[in-house]
Amino acid sequence: MNAQPKVAIVGATGAVGVEIQKCLEERQFPLSGLKLLASARSAGKKVEYAGRVLEVEELRPESFRGVDIALFSAGGNVSREYAPVAAGEGCVVVDNSSAFRQEEDVPLVVPEINGEAALHHPRNIIANPNCTTIITLMALYPLHIKFGLRMIIASSYQAVSGSGQHGIAELEQQVRAIVNGDPVVCSTYPRQIAFNVLPQIDCFTDTGYTKEELKMLNEGRKIMNLPELSVSCTCVRVPVYRSHSISCVAQFERPVDVEVARACYAGMPGIALMDQPARGEWPTPLDATNGDTCYVGRIRKDLAIPNALSLWVVGDQVRKGAALNAVQIAELLIR
Ligand code: A2P
Repeated sequence: MNAQPKVAIVGATGAVGVEIQKCLEERQFPLSGLKLLASARSAGKKVEYAGRVLEVEELRPESFRGVDIALFSAGGNVSREYAPVAAGEGCVVVDNSSAFRQEEDVPLVVPEINGEAALHHPRNIIANPNCTTIITLMALYPLHIKFGLRMIIASSYQAVSGSGQHGIAELEQQVRAIVNGDPVVCSTYPRQIAFNVLPQIDCFTDTGYTKEELKMLNEGRKIMNLPELSVSCTCVRVPVYRSHSISCVAQFERPVDVEVARACYAGMPGIALMDQPARGEWPTPLDATNGDTCYVGRIRKDLAIPNALSLWVVGDQVRKGAALNAVQIAELLIR
């Protein structure tokens, strides 16, 4: 791979696409050119990147000629249609959608966990995992190394920006409507999200779990190479703008110790301990928002399950859960 690649962002006007631009710029990603691609609606829109003005182009099959790395974040349908086209042009695709995550010859990568997997991409497609899965594994992986992970029971508290710009707009509009005494309009979510919580993210499967909930199981197994891992997860949308939180019980093969668990985070990149309950110190979504670091706290020995720890983890899902993780994968490709 060219050390100064030409990069394209597919979905450049979306919540994740905009964040990808910020991450590339902040991290001084050594690109030789940047192509911003979106739907015809956005063609011609001007965007500033590193002091230059770039114009958004309409995504077309020929958009990828001469592009080395394409970061896709425009939904599964766009990925299914255009990722193979880009890959066929010799471009390496880092795909944020779930379209290819479970395919055997597509690596599913969290750089801090299985970064080396990104270097073998026979189809020129690398998948970026689900946001809630990334943030949860950032907290569990250091513990897995020490104690051997066996089972996860988790509930997520997921921000509306996980649904893209529409989710943010819907929360804002509903809060305004309620404060002004106007009727509430629901379009992105099936029920009112303002001042409420919704225990459904994505559609239900015949297991009774939603697709989102099964991602932690299927993706967790693949990323950590733990085919026997068992996971039970409930994903909940909460009226938070940004950053997901996960309450999690993790059971391990070996006996656990809280102080040893806390020490597992020392020196670990991308995750920090915020765990001084006596001082009222625990992480909230606002602590993680707009930052690269996930925070873990409330670590305690689980009272109900043997060899288990309970904990709480937060992370900015637009950043580490999507844009940053994708840019980190791109960095692995040019290293
Ligand atoms: P556009 O802004 O032109 O609609 P979000 O997830 O925040 O809603 O963003 C989705 C992103 O995916 C946007 O950049 C959007 O572009 C882009 N997108 C959606 N549908 C298409 C499509 N059919 N072709 C290209 N880009 C698309």
